[in-house]
Amino acid sequence: MTILVTGGAGFIGSNFIFYELEHHPEDRIVCLDKLTYAGNLSTLKDVLDLPNFRFIRADICDREAVYRLFEEEHPDMVVHFAAESHVDRSIENPGVFLETNIMGTAVLMDACRKYGIRRYHQVSTDEVYGDLPLDRPDLLFTEETPLHTSSPYSSSKASADLLVMAYHRTYGLPVSISRCSNNYGPYQFPEKLIPLMIANCLANKPLPVYGKGLNVRDWLYVEDHCKAIDLIIRNGREGEVYNIGGHNEMANIDIVKLILKELGKSEDLITYVTDRKGHDMRYAIDPSKIHAELGWLPETMFAEGIRKTIRWYLDNREWWETIISGEYKDYYRKMYENR
Ligand code: NAD
Ligand code: TYD
Repeated sequence: MTILVTGGAGFIGSNFIFYELEHHPEDRIVCLDKLTYAGNLSTLKDVLDLPNFRFIRADICDREAVYRLFEEEHPDMVVHFAAESHVDRSIENPGVFLETNIMGTAVLMDACRKYGIRRYHQVSTDEVYGDLPLDRPDLLFTEETPLHTSSPYSSSKASADLLVMAYHRTYGLPVSISRCSNNYGPYQFPEKLIPLMIANCLANKPLPVYGKGLNVRDWLYVEDHCKAIDLIIRNGREGEVYNIGGHNEMANIDIVKLILKELGKSEDLITYVTDRKGHDMRYAIDPSKIHAELGWLPETMFAEGIRKTIRWYLDNREWWETIISGEYKDYYRKMYENR
């Protein structure tokens, strides 16, 4: 079958493409990506020439381009990763988040309605549930937790989720949604916590920790996320939401200290900076539904995953050094200087 993967030149989308090509070589993968600041064609260099892979540069909001691609490829499934994904950028400039994350999702689903599809899968996030208090470790996000967003990013993702369920009920579109916790691993853009701290550490630059560093995230190795999505699109039930997470809650400051320790650097590099506006306190996923229905369990424990990730950034300096020496420099200056 043919799977259309949007956003496949980004972090999770590219890892998903590698996962699919390795585990389902009989399938054809078509990747549609606009190559925004977050997309890198070099990430896909090892697969670009494979006979069962095709890359198309296009904007998911460009209805004509999307319909043309559907006419050419008639995908059996769509796995929709493409999004503006960084909370801090959404606080600076919400507009493009609404455009890409909401309108782009509608265009893709319209194409699915027009040309037919076996499954449309929406890659969502645990951030649609809002946040949990630090002093209630018993509380976890289930699929029934109400949507209660904080940032323009999470609001745009929750809006897209609502639209996906509306297309399911109104038009009978065969959809599924997954809501995953924070991912880490190879090819993550260096604006996100873990790669940013690794890159700064290696350059002996200050490590900017927001607020007191006590915010908790539930970290999952990216390959485990990819495996979960693969199970959902092949064996998951239509019209269902699946939460994905590995019970791995950690405070930001503990992650930063761990990275410093692994790289043999001093904790003096830690710099506490002004907190993010509306900063979510804690995310924590209850993954019992995907475990019970599809047998999914995370395979990479954090201690191993973070070592693999640090090793990857050490071995692939060119990939991220090219990024941080480009327009990213202006972004970094704007977000972190005098913070
Ligand atoms: P990313 O920012 O690394 O990659 C996004 C990709 O989408 C880039 O390749 C970019 O070029 C592409 N893109 C952006 N706008 C586009 C448009 N208009 N048309 C076509 N392509 C466009 O993001 P990521 O971290 O890989 O996240 C992928 C998905 O997973 C997102 O939907 C995100 O909300 C979700 N998610 C991410 C995490 C995480 O921890 N990173 C956790 C849960 C869910
Ligand atoms: P991030 O990687 O942006 O993911 P998200 O906000 O989607 O969870 O940030 C993870 C956590 O790290 C979040 O609590 C904000 C914090 N953070 C910092 O303390 N400093 C930084 O420079 C960044 C990018 C994030």
